[in-house]
Amino acid sequence: YSRIKKNDLFENVVYHNSVTSTQTVAQQLANEGVGEGTVVVADEQTGGKGRLGRVWDSEKGAGVWMSLILKPQIDFRKAPQLTLLTAVAVTRAIESVSGLPLSIKWPNDLLVNGKKLCGILTEMQADPDRVQSVIIGIGLNVNHGGFPDDLSEIATSMNIEAGKPFNRAEVIAAILNEFSWLYRTYLSQGFSLIKPLWEAHAVSIGKKIVARSTAGTTEGYALGIDDEGVLLLQDNQGETHRIYSADIEFK
Ligand code: BTN
Repeated sequence: YSRIKKNDLFENVVYHNSVTSTQTVAQQLANEGVGEGTVVVADEQTGGKGRLGRVWDSEKGAGVWMSLILKPQIDFRKAPQLTLLTAVAVTRAIESVSGLPLSIKWPNDLLVNGKKLCGILTEMQADPDRVQSVIIGIGLNVNHGGFPDDLSEIATSMNIEAGKPFNRAEVIAAILNEFSWLYRTYLSQGFSLIKPLWEAHAVSIGKKIVARSTAGTTEGYALGIDDEGVLLLQDNQGETHRIYSADIEFK
């Protein structure tokens, strides 16, 4: 990982051969007072975490498994915007490194040819109004040659799609660089400059979808995202719902 070029935001890369989850390691470091701009990277995770309590398969050496430590001075209600910003950063980085065309499925799945290439998990600790720390986990399938049968229909890797392997350190450097300038733009100028970049890659918008969450299931048209990054879904009765967190499926 010596080839990961340091940039002005991420000055500290913590590398582990094998960890349970880079999210847990990053959260501990943040709690111990490690500041913004540290990245935790591992070759392998034995207990990789996906969204909604799912397991994230993190095969040794095959992907980029990393967590970013951030401590933005923002209202906790704005933290989901960072997930969308991360999706933009990773999309742009992968496109520049590989030329693969990516699309973003709200809120945070990155797809190539309809299959999942990357997942993003945002976890935060907050006071009633201010964010303490935001840990952004990025799981990117890079050099997998294939997936087991049950996953091969829904998951893919950069190697499978581009027909050649990639250097993971270069991929990481590209992601961190894209992330840095987007994050600085976001902190100084807000989400309004990030939103059109997200929309340019979004496949969810204007489609008929089903959104499932602990709050229930809603079916309708995805109208777009608002300035907070919340999904606006118009149901079949014409009523608009604000969806903060859900799994969506295209109809
Ligand atoms: C998803 O469910 O789509 C999100 C997957 C996030 C996986 C990454 S891999 C690095 C970091 N560590 C974890 O345990 N999870 C995230």
